[in-house]
Amino acid sequence: MSELAIHGGTPVRTTPFPKWPIWDQQEIDAVTEVVKSGKWGSLHGDKTRTFEQIYANAHDAKYGIAIQSGTAALRIALLAAGVGVGEEVIVPGYTFIASASAIIEAGGVPVFVDIDPETYNIDPTKIEAAITTKTRAIMPVHFGGRPAEMDPILKIANAHKLKVIEDAAQAWGSAWNGRKVGVIGDAGAFSFQSSKNVTAGEGGIILTNDDQIAKMCRAHYNCGRSEDGLWYEHFYFGSNLRITEFQSAILTVQFNRYPKYLELRQKNAQYLTKQLADIEGVGLLKKDSRVTSNSIHLFIWRYKKEAFNNIPKAKFMDLMKAEGIQISGGYSLPVHKQPVFQKSCFGPAGRIINIGQDYTKVFLPETEKACFEEAIWFNQNQFLGTEKDMDDIATAIRKIQKNAKFVA
Ligand SMILES: Cc1ncc(COP(=O)(O)O)c(C=O)c1O
Repeated sequence: MSELAIHGGTPVRTTPFPKWPIWDQQEIDAVTEVVKSGKWGSLHGDKTRTFEQIYANAHDAKYGIAIQSGTAALRIALLAAGVGVGEEVIVPGYTFIASASAIIEAGGVPVFVDIDPETYNIDPTKIEAAITTKTRAIMPVHFGGRPAEMDPILKIANAHKLKVIEDAAQAWGSAWNGRKVGVIGDAGAFSFQSSKNVTAGEGGIILTNDDQIAKMCRAHYNCGRSEDGLWYEHFYFGSNLRITEFQSAILTVQFNRYPKYLELRQKNAQYLTKQLADIEGVGLLKKDSRVTSNSIHLFIWRYKKEAFNNIPKAKFMDLMKAEGIQISGGYSLPVHKQPVFQKSCFGPAGRIINIGQDYTKVFLPETEKACFEEAIWFNQNQFLGTEKDMDDIATAIRKIQKNAKFVA
């Protein structure tokens, strides 16, 4: 007889995983201080400049440029790196839509490349085939916090004189071969949106070691001003994407706390990896000694339904939830299959604009398999507790596997 919770059995756990965000009196004090100072915007206070410096130092970067969101940070980084109207940027198909929409916002054209199912990052062996005379940049995404394979990516970029703009939205403190991501290429963008491991509700930052890119980022997010020009002199095309002092004050507190939680997430993720290693049908991403730090924003594995009596992924997730396990199936569609891309609705109010790509013709088999059949995500908050939490995840998977024959 089935022991599954969905059939009335006892669930593996009834307590929720740790809540996110974590905060305490320090965040309250930090915001209170800003309120009382009367310096609420980054033009007047010093919280934003302080945070930029702390964040840049922690990532061995020369410049940190705080900005309103990760999406805006990507757009500004692309513009500052010189991606021009109609120029192509190579990006993986398996990512959040912002990686691609930021390219369109910058006037560029996303060209999608498939992922390596062993890493869930862009497959470097497929990049060169996507390069045309219009290609200007590559945007690797350090998905879930796992660094993309930067060695081959930089080699290709150098050979074809392409810029590399890293989408590090999920990769605070991740490192490839000992180098922090975000400044391995020309520039990188991070997100501090609510679900992220470091958060102020919203926010982002650009890192770069390039003086000219840094200067142009500051111009683009500050209404096109030049740092040495008059206040009402606008040299470049820009927007107001400045962050507030409230966000920067919270981010400084959050980031001071970050190393402790990074270590805890990594420790629990390593433990979970061991617990899942011998379960048939649980495809773990491949080990790579060049991944020297992973932020563990997402713990990703591939669900092989053959080992679970062919239970489809959606049903498997229902079974896990009934056992008390927080679980996500990740993106339900590849970016190029999103309605906006299928219909090329890139204009105002959904108007169709032809940007020279027919996204209905794109086929990325590994990205599709990830979305439709295999990808399972556990979220960063699940790694902020104990080994018992990890044991519960493994126990629930084993229990479902053992009872799979009872699932219609
Ligand atoms: C891979 C990726 N890129 C870009 C972004 C955009 O960041 P934000 O939500 O701060 O605009 C996100 C955030 O969800 C993301 O996960």
